[in-house]
Amino acid sequence: MKNVDLVIRGGKIVSPDRIIEASVAIDGERIVAVGHDDVMPSATREMRADGLYLLPGAIDSHVHFRDPGYPHKENWQTGSAAAACGGVTTVFDMPNTNPATGTREALAMKLKAAERSFCDFGIHALFGDETVHLLEDLLDAGATSFKAFVGNTFGNLPAPTDGALLEGFEKLAPLGIRTVVHAENSSIMARRQKALQEAGRIDAQAHLDARPAVAEIEAIGRVLTLAEWTGARVHIAHHSAADSLYLLRAAKARGVDVTAETCPQYLLLNTDDILRLGGILRVNPPVREPRHNQPLWEALMDGTLDMIATDHAPHTPEEKTRESIWACDCGFPGVETQMPLMLTQVNRQRATLMDYVKWSAVAPAKAWGLYGTKGVIAVGAHADIAFVDMAQTGTLSQGRLKSISKLSPWHDRAVQGYPVHTLLRGRFVMQHGKLMEEAITHGCSVKGIQAMPLPQPRNQQHYTSAILTPPPGVRPNALPAAEVER
Ligand code: DOR
Ligand code: ZN
Repeated sequence: MKNVDLVIRGGKIVSPDRIIEASVAIDGERIVAVGHDDVMPSATREMRADGLYLLPGAIDSHVHFRDPGYPHKENWQTGSAAAACGGVTTVFDMPNTNPATGTREALAMKLKAAERSFCDFGIHALFGDETVHLLEDLLDAGATSFKAFVGNTFGNLPAPTDGALLEGFEKLAPLGIRTVVHAENSSIMARRQKALQEAGRIDAQAHLDARPAVAEIEAIGRVLTLAEWTGARVHIAHHSAADSLYLLRAAKARGVDVTAETCPQYLLLNTDDILRLGGILRVNPPVREPRHNQPLWEALMDGTLDMIATDHAPHTPEEKTRESIWACDCGFPGVETQMPLMLTQVNRQRATLMDYVKWSAVAPAKAWGLYGTKGVIAVGAHADIAFVDMAQTGTLSQGRLKSISKLSPWHDRAVQGYPVHTLLRGRFVMQHGKLMEEAITHGCSVKGIQAMPLPQPRNQQHYTSAILTPPPGVRPNALPAAEVER
């Protein structure tokens, strides 16, 4: 019998419900056996992973690799190198590049840039008033999913009107395609920011004052209303506020197909860090008061929040450290530091490794239609594996980041738990902490493996689907006659 390519022995394989010590056999891009050492096929290459945990490679649903348009901040090569070095095997890139990913041509430019990638990727194309008639076209041209900038942020892409949101959701619902939403209310924020600027505020706290939690609550509520009405799948990006979690809980309980991410910055940082970090911490949505941290952890634990993403958003040091907070660009790199930061929390027993795998790999794989091929270490799946050393200690150093723009709020933070090797479809893209430069063209689009089965019938007791037109004379949600008469 032919040798398989690689057998990994002695590692501990982590899934959401168990950790088992087992060997893994890999042939080509896929896992062909998982089990006892004795039953492994013979292999061209053997590897020991004693003392290491084998995690499904992390899937980061939210990165900004800036390609095309902002090569001084990041490019696809440097962004994907950062991912590989952070144990991340798949990323989903955001459309606020230049040109924005809202036309076939712009999408083609992005796919061209991504030909040189150390990680696999999906592309969120732009969902806006100008692109709503192009959604099917963009899917056909290689987009995996969409992003709606309901809240204003870097790139100044106009927020879709409610009419366009409804129309786009009506188009995407029958296709089962999920839309990522930056859920903040632009009108509230623009007005507040103007008032703060007129009052002469330029301090870092003013950024938070301009973007109160109610802007997030309002936008999430509105988006969930439209998603529930149409049956469209939505994904709430960078959930930052404790106060809007109740909306997610209620929508999920009613059967709305909403997934949500939060990021390490909302779990681990708060306004206590503003003085120390100033403009470096400026991010949309803002890092909020300490009272938000614990409820976000609890929401991850109870499944209200599904996953960890990073909103990897690099800007140069010059762009991050201007005198006025309004002049500092929003965001910071994160794709490379997420895993050590979260593993440190596991070491502090704030969560288990099994929880972490659920948040970093399983939930995003399910949300984007990749589960089974990605997000799991099992026979038939892609051999995407983050080898993790839970004992390794260190200090995060921005100088060593692979990103072009290295300024990070995590600089100097002590961590315990690192990815030490990253395997992508059977090939190492990072080993012993070092990027495998020759793997530069190994990453590819997940479009071909994406399967988005149509949503299951939902509990529609609150709304009648817009697609099932109500019979004449009957309003959706009409009160029972007896109640109307009273
Ligand atoms: O702070 C942010 N920066 N939030 C976003 O939503 C976008 C990002 C960017 O692209 O810089
Ligand atoms: Zn973002």
